Amino acid sequence: MTTTTGQPQTEAPSPVSPTGPIGVPAADPAGIHGPRWQWVVLGALPFVLVLVVWVAPAAYMLRAKAEPAPVDAPHQPPSGIALYERHCAQCHGDKGDGAGLTAASLWPLPRNFGEGRFRLVTTQNGIPTDDDLLAVLRNGIPGSSMPAFGHLGEPELRALIERVRALTYAGVLERLLRQADDGDMEPAEAYRIAATRCAPGPVLAVPKQFPPPTAASLARGREVFAKVCASCHGPSGRGDGPQVAQLVNTDGSRARPRDLTVGRFKGGADPAQVYARIMLGLPGSPMPASNLLPQEEILDLGNYVLSLSRPGAAAGPAGDRSSRAP
Ligand code: HEC
Ligand code: HEC
Repeated sequence: MTTTTGQPQTEAPSPVSPTGPIGVPAADPAGIHGPRWQWVVLGALPFVLVLVVWVAPAAYMLRAKAEPAPVDAPHQPPSGIALYERHCAQCHGDKGDGAGLTAASLWPLPRNFGEGRFRLVTTQNGIPTDDDLLAVLRNGIPGSSMPAFGHLGEPELRALIERVRALTYAGVLERLLRQADDGDMEPAEAYRIAATRCAPGPVLAVPKQFPPPTAASLARGREVFAKVCASCHGPSGRGDGPQVAQLVNTDGSRARPRDLTVGRFKGGADPAQVYARIMLGLPGSPMPASNLLPQEEILDLGNYVLSLSRPGAAAGPAGDRSSRAP
């Protein structure tokens, strides 16, 4: 070691001298021949701090980036189980029973897949097609805490759909096997019923064209609405019908009829989706299927429901939602 003056030094000052007072090395009592060790430590402190505060986390992040992500590595197909745990379990629960850690603070409740009932379906039996589930994952469910996962790639979304189906089957089967335990049916029968209950049924035929919302169509729609829908949705569609207080979902949670003047549709506001909701209802909620009404009445109802949230459309060009709701 050399001093700042270039003089060779025979012995480095020891931090604690055996002879001098603590902190004052006896070999260089006045610190004349070089910086005292305290100053060296003090001078190095900022560099040490920079190292700890900035370089270390950066190095950690670089390392984390370099490590292959457990589920997204390109050479292996995405694991639905891992994706589900990461993105869904906190609300829907590890087993898909709707009992995730955050579930208690949410309304509407996260879906209990094991109930085997899904709101936004295009099938007669209330079990969604892959496209129905894909739409839910891409768009989320407006007006609820169900987020959109459109940022995930299609392989990831398809893996998640498989996971939702597996959890649905497991939940439905578990309930049936309990009935079998009680002697209500053979276990083999439980497996057979679970498989059919979880398979999407026939898809609803949706008209290719929807009639324009003429004044006559809206007037007819309003009439049917007053008869069939107003008890829940209220006379002007604000979700304040006389039945509201008694409405519950099949999972036991409170149900509220939609305020149709807000224009927020969980399944989307295009006429085909609104048609599907009116025809099939929202399974698991009190919103009933109206598929026994004549087809023209359903189409008029669709026009009327959409007109409730689009008062401005009255000013549009003729033939294109041009008529004012009477
Ligand atoms: C922050 C909580 C939360 C997270 C995270 C979440 N969900 Fe949901 N999810 C909900 C809620 C709440 C509902 C019910 C909404 C309703 O009934 O309006 C729901 C409903 C659903 C439904 C039912 C759709 C239907 O038609 O009934 C599916 C399927 C679903 N979620 C899948 C998923 C998947 C898969 C993930 C993870 C990629 C996920 N959810 C993450 C809260 C969440
Ligand atoms: C027994 C009560 C009840 C009746 C009758 C009823 N609804 Fe509903 N409706 C509901 C409830 C509850 C919801 C909300 C369900 C949910 O979000 O889980 C709803 C939701 C809706 C939605 C929103 C769909 C979406 O994508 O978000 C539409 C549209 C709708 N109802 C139209 C109608 C029409 C048209 C009729 C008459 C043919 C009708 N409802 C009859 C209870 C009812």
